[in-house]
Amino acid sequence: MSLKEKKITSLIICFLLLLLLPIVFSKPTRNLDGTGTARALTVQQIRNKHGTREVILDNGIIRVSFSSPQGLITGIKYNGVDNVLSPHQRARGYWDITWQGGLDRIEGTKFKIITQNQEQVEISFSRTWESGSRSRSHHHIPLTVDKRYIIRKNTSGIYAYGIFERLPEWPEFDMGQVRIVFKLDQDKFHYMAVADEIQREMPTDGDRDIHRGHAKALGYKEAVQLTHPHNPMFKNQVDDKYQYSCEIKDNKVHGWISTKSHVGFWIISPSGEYRSGGPVKQELTSHTGPTAIASFISGHYLGTDMDVHYGEAWKKVLGPVFIYLNSGDDLLLELNHDLIYTIGASNYSQDWFYAHVTRNNGGSTYKPTTWQIVFHLPYVNMRGSYTLQLALASAARANLQVRFNNQYTTGYIGRDNAIARHGIHGIYRLYSINVPGRLLRTGTNTIYLRQAKASGPFEGLMYDYIRLEEPSRD
Ligand SMILES: *[C@@H]1O[C@H](CO)[C@@H](O)[C@H](O)[C@H]1NC(C)=O
Ligand SMILES: *[C@@H]1O[C@H](CO)[C@@H](O)[C@H](O)[C@H]1NC(C)=O
Repeated sequence: MSLKEKKITSLIICFLLLLLLPIVFSKPTRNLDGTGTARALTVQQIRNKHGTREVILDNGIIRVSFSSPQGLITGIKYNGVDNVLSPHQRARGYWDITWQGGLDRIEGTKFKIITQNQEQVEISFSRTWESGSRSRSHHHIPLTVDKRYIIRKNTSGIYAYGIFERLPEWPEFDMGQVRIVFKLDQDKFHYMAVADEIQREMPTDGDRDIHRGHAKALGYKEAVQLTHPHNPMFKNQVDDKYQYSCEIKDNKVHGWISTKSHVGFWIISPSGEYRSGGPVKQELTSHTGPTAIASFISGHYLGTDMDVHYGEAWKKVLGPVFIYLNSGDDLLLELNHDLIYTIGASNYSQDWFYAHVTRNNGGSTYKPTTWQIVFHLPYVNMRGSYTLQLALASAARANLQVRFNNQYTTGYIGRDNAIARHGIHGIYRLYSINVPGRLLRTGTNTIYLRQAKASGPFEGLMYDYIRLEEPSRD
């Protein structure tokens, strides 16, 4: 049959599904008390059970603890999780600067509340530099640092920025790196996303352990080969944090998902303006740890051009970045019934769901879902060959089985996770599925679309376009 003969003589089903996403984008953030009214902002200064001072910011959605006056973030409580940060490390939410004097965590010596009103609380942990080798500062980088954090009402996250200043008479130094680092709880966070096409289950820090024989060192210091990972799926893979670098212009959001705790942890950078190096300079993002970094200045992909010379005075604000947490519940987009779409009666704006997702069986078990498209055929060419053109806008660890009366299966497809990341599309896939006319009947027909993979909430797919083509009638 020539292409011309096969030209589409009638479109039986035709629906464009592309811009059908409004639901997910702005899920209201719920309060922990579930009343729906935003709770008051609080800032508390306490002594914890070890006798050390802490500052706690709380807006009813998120609760962030800091050591005081050092200003290390020690805890982030969210969505019923006491602390999303690693319990095993003292430094788990911190700024640091690498310079020729080593690594300086720029711990504050003074705590101050900058603003406190009903809308927001801003706090500061600062440190000034004193000259003279006998001063306490002599192993500190010669900069005045002021680490600022802002919590706002009814906002599921915290803003961080820093103000750095140096006076002209202060010593020269070489500043290799300025960043904020978060070390997340490795029992919770296993899935990392740094870009639409770069996201995956990750190995653990332990898998990188060369001394315990879990991994083999490779040519460049940070790269290892995972020879004995805890999960065989990573066996012999190379792990290297620079695999996840990204150009500043694209470095807008990256982070981790805990499918177990239903929590996403994201570093959002509204702008690249405050980073050094320009839009195409690359920076680290997130990597095995689980670690997430907001990098402001670095010699990575650059070298030592960041030296600060005698006589230069400057003041610079780095940030703000937004540390955003969202809950798995916002991501669990469920239909409470399997979708049935009837051509001619249903309206795709209302009756089609934008994502074909799994169903939660209760607890953390999931089951596949089957959608149906019901349509009417006044006439069937039993000997002809029909074609179902089925285009997917996204697929994440899915397997789509298409059945008229027989079954077509795509096989295991997709890692794009556009659903979990609130995307409108991931990787485009087009299937032309042959449907012999004998599988159709005059009258009512049904196409069954079964997404058969269902081990978790993030498996699923999005349709772009579905069309059944009838063979030519002449
Ligand atoms: C909280 O924020 C959400 C999302 O921005 C908004 O829909 C909701 O109205 C806000 N609630 C209050 C009480 O301000
Ligand atoms: C389908 O639903 C949308 C949204 O409610 C509406 O604007 C549109 O007019 C409906 N289309 C038909 C054919 O009823």
